[in-house]
Amino acid sequence: MSIPSPSAAPLRLGVIGTGAIGRDHIRRCTHALLGCTVVAVSDINPEQAADVVATQGLDAQIHSDGWALIEAADVQAVLVTSLGPSHEDYVLAAIASGKPVFCEKPLAVSADGCRRIVEAEIAHGKRLVQVGFMRPYDPGYQALKAVIDSGRIGAPLMLHCAHRNPSVPAHYTTDMAITDTLIHELDVLRWLLADDYKSVQVVFPRQSSNAQPYLRDPQVVLIETLNGTRIDVEVFVNCQYGYDIQCEVVGESGTARLPEPPQVQLRSTAQVSSVILTDWKERFMAAYDVELQAFIDGVRAGTLTGPSAWDGYAAAVAADACIVAQRSGGVVPVGLPERPCFYSR
Ligand SMILES: NC(=O)c1ccc[n+]([C@@H]2O[C@H](COP(=O)([O-])OP(=O)(O)OC[C@H]3O[C@@H](n4cnc5c(N)ncnc54)[C@H](O)[C@@H]3O)[C@@H](O)[C@H]2O)c1
Repeated sequence: MSIPSPSAAPLRLGVIGTGAIGRDHIRRCTHALLGCTVVAVSDINPEQAADVVATQGLDAQIHSDGWALIEAADVQAVLVTSLGPSHEDYVLAAIASGKPVFCEKPLAVSADGCRRIVEAEIAHGKRLVQVGFMRPYDPGYQALKAVIDSGRIGAPLMLHCAHRNPSVPAHYTTDMAITDTLIHELDVLRWLLADDYKSVQVVFPRQSSNAQPYLRDPQVVLIETLNGTRIDVEVFVNCQYGYDIQCEVVGESGTARLPEPPQVQLRSTAQVSSVILTDWKERFMAAYDVELQAFIDGVRAGTLTGPSAWDGYAAAVAADACIVAQRSGGVVPVGLPERPCFYSR
């Protein structure tokens, strides 16, 4: 499979999974991003695929399954936006075909599955995989990282983070607080600190009466990094009031806080107020655009630089440890092997 040069025709994308985020990525690839065109779609539910072609006016072939889409001669790169359990097999098939693949999180539903992808990519000999961790592309996190890297607050000693959703659907379970929600912090905090995790513990505060009875909500995840930084992340998915992402870094000589998304400050009726977003899509809208543009540009230039299969694996190893910690209540080591030089930072 030859990769086009930056000046060449648009990169021809195939999208597997046309649900919420698949449609959103198809929209941005079609209307917001440069250098790409969606030429193929597939969904286990063919009506979903047909609907996205019709409603978004795509000139795209509908494939009966993801395997046929990956093999199609006119598909140069693949977006995997189906549900998590299907990701591993599609990503492995894309690697086997030598096609670059952007895979939404999770890269695979288990750390073992992620490791199989890492091994396949290393055997292929060139990076083909970008994982859909978008927070490193968020301007707020980038500004926060720039402050940390400048040394202005000294070495980071502690991080206080929160990941709050207004509510979650009925099928959301206690371990999904880790695999679906905390997974974003598990990725972005490694990147922010250029560090890895040593151990995790999960503690459960008093249960919110707004949570489903079978869901432990909120949870607090306590993390120690290899450098000794201590992180606490509050995961509270029935907070009612908004989608609220917080991160404060306490350094040796100062603190730095993730900026709020830009909002108009309103002074009215004897009050100062600003809106809190309620939808994760809006909160990270810009980051989704930039991450996918980076994938498209990287494929066209022949070098992928975004979150790698190793990053997907590292997050999955930490998530697995958190699940064990939820059940045991104890401190659980995070056994991430040494990073292969193939994935050097
Ligand atoms: N990066 C982020 O912030 C973010 C946000 C939302 C979703 N996601 C991830 O994106 C993925 C999709 O989430 P969603 O919210 O769009 O879910 P969704 O349920 O809205 O859509 C999933 C689609 O995949 C299809 N599908 C299921 N199994 C399939 C298979 N084996 N082959 C082909 N199609 C299949 C379904 O029919 C459905 O149309 C999940 O892994 C989710 O974790 C990431």
